[in-house]
Amino acid sequence: MVKQIEKLPDHVCIIMDGNGRWALSRGLERNVGHRQGVEAVRAATEYAAEKGIPYLSLFAFSEENWGRPKSETDAIMSVIVNAIHNETPKMMKNNIRCVFIGDREQLDNKALKRMDDCMRQTAGNTGMTLIVAVNYSGKWDILQAVKRLLEENPPAEQLLSPEVFSSYLSTAGVPEPDLMIRTSGEMRISNFMLWQMAYTELYFTPVLWPDFRKPDFEAALNAYSNRKRRFGKIEESI
Ligand code: IPE
Ligand code: IPE
Ligand code: MG
Repeated sequence: MVKQIEKLPDHVCIIMDGNGRWALSRGLERNVGHRQGVEAVRAATEYAAEKGIPYLSLFAFSEENWGRPKSETDAIMSVIVNAIHNETPKMMKNNIRCVFIGDREQLDNKALKRMDDCMRQTAGNTGMTLIVAVNYSGKWDILQAVKRLLEENPPAEQLLSPEVFSSYLSTAGVPEPDLMIRTSGEMRISNFMLWQMAYTELYFTPVLWPDFRKPDFEAALNAYSNRKRRFGKIEESI
């Protein structure tokens, strides 16, 4: 019998790390690891949707990743662009709404078109929301929110409200992540959703992203379900 996980998160975000090491440890080129990572994206998305998790966010490419050799950034971008194209029919079938977040400035027209087509096609789906962060960084997100706030010039007291500020972030309307999973053993946030992760439960696993499958996701959910979230309060007042 399948054991029920007691407390499910509403929003899981994943820093998908370890593609390069996965490939190198097999004597393969790093880019093979990026291609292999798509399999893990498929498994994680399917699992989250099956479990009834309302929001899943995946960190696919960071602003800092442009610092890698062009041959690698080109390869990662083409993996992303192809995956969007190939996975959209499955998202339609599974009633998944897909949203892309990140700075669009440095992305080429082909990538932007694929992202926009996918968002448009899946916009009416009412199941899980899949948020894919491409050319994203947490500091960028906060700065773009501040810029838009300044442009719109709302009354000063509104600027002081975390709720109003959140509504200018690229994740407006999305609950803050309850659980962050990072694969590959690195224990850092690497400029992901900085504001949004203020009270997120962090889970680190040594599993490299291309190997991450449903049992690994389940282990993370089980760990989450045993966490005591206090939000600064004490047990009795929660
Ligand atoms: C994560 O895997 C994918 C991206 C950052 C785009 P890495 O490419 O960072 O893999 P490692 O960390 O070098 O093993
Ligand atoms: C974080 O992984 C970014 C993504 C998973 C897209 P990195 O491999 O780029 O992070 P660092 O450099 O180890 O912090
Ligand atoms: Mg890495």
